[in-house]
Amino acid sequence: MTMMDPRLLAAKEKLSEIKVIVPVMSSKGGVGKTVIAGSLAVLLARSGIGTGLLDLDFTNPGLHVLLGADISSWPEEEKGVVPPRVAGVRFMTTAYYSGDEPLPLRGKYVDEVFKEILCITRWPGVKALIIDTPPGIRDEALDILTYIPSPRPLIVGTPSPLAIKSVEKLVRILIDLGHDIIGLIENMASEPGPLKQLAEKYGVEYLGNIPYISNMDLLIGKPYELVDAIEPYLKVALDRIRSLIH
Ligand SMILES: Nc1ncnc2c1ncn2[C@@H]1O[C@H](COP(=O)(O)OP(=O)(O)OP(=O)(O)O)[C@@H](O)[C@H]1O
Ligand SMILES: [Mg+2]
Repeated sequence: MTMMDPRLLAAKEKLSEIKVIVPVMSSKGGVGKTVIAGSLAVLLARSGIGTGLLDLDFTNPGLHVLLGADISSWPEEEKGVVPPRVAGVRFMTTAYYSGDEPLPLRGKYVDEVFKEILCITRWPGVKALIIDTPPGIRDEALDILTYIPSPRPLIVGTPSPLAIKSVEKLVRILIDLGHDIIGLIENMASEPGPLKQLAEKYGVEYLGNIPYISNMDLLIGKPYELVDAIEPYLKVALDRIRSLIH
């Protein structure tokens, strides 16, 4: 008999109404996962879809900075934690509890925090859940693939030769594990480049390229201005996610 952590049963129940769960992943750091995860969530919500956003980068949560979210008080509790709305999105992060204090966690504690967050968080009205993840294919990534029901990973990379090999490994791992990749985005690329070829090689949908947006840093903390700048490049990804809801 396999042992089951009861928190995972609670987590499964809490996620059961959600139609699509999209972890935004990359084996490489600094490629734009947080920017893309936050933007996708705000844009989905703006198009009338109940949307949740979960920051699973426990050591370096960044979405609250991106969204300009107030993390000074703990979220409301009612038979669990109900994430407050930020820019129209139900937004959950450990930063509500840890503030901007550093939170170094060994692997087994990552696993514990992960289960706890999933077990306590309710997502009323949420149909699409976007998850921001830390870089790499380690604890958080493996936890997502193990504990989240039917995840549809969205992979982010850049055309840098340093990123391509790394992203290829993630694609191969996800395919080998039987996961249904929603698609691949090539960030900081002025035109479709090597990641388009990579997507084709593995039969993964290429969701387009996002050029380098030179004033990006000025848009951090201003979610509506940020999404206005990035929306034209996320249309295909948004359509793909929406198509899985209706
Ligand atoms: N298309 C873009 N144009 C210009 N700057 C960008 C673009 N995408 C991301 N950035 C910038 O690149 C940096 C890294 O972005 P981000 O934090 O989203 O990456 P990440 O993959 O989440 O990083 P980490 O692996 O550390 O979590 C940030 O300063 C962000 O503002
Ligand atoms: Mg990030």
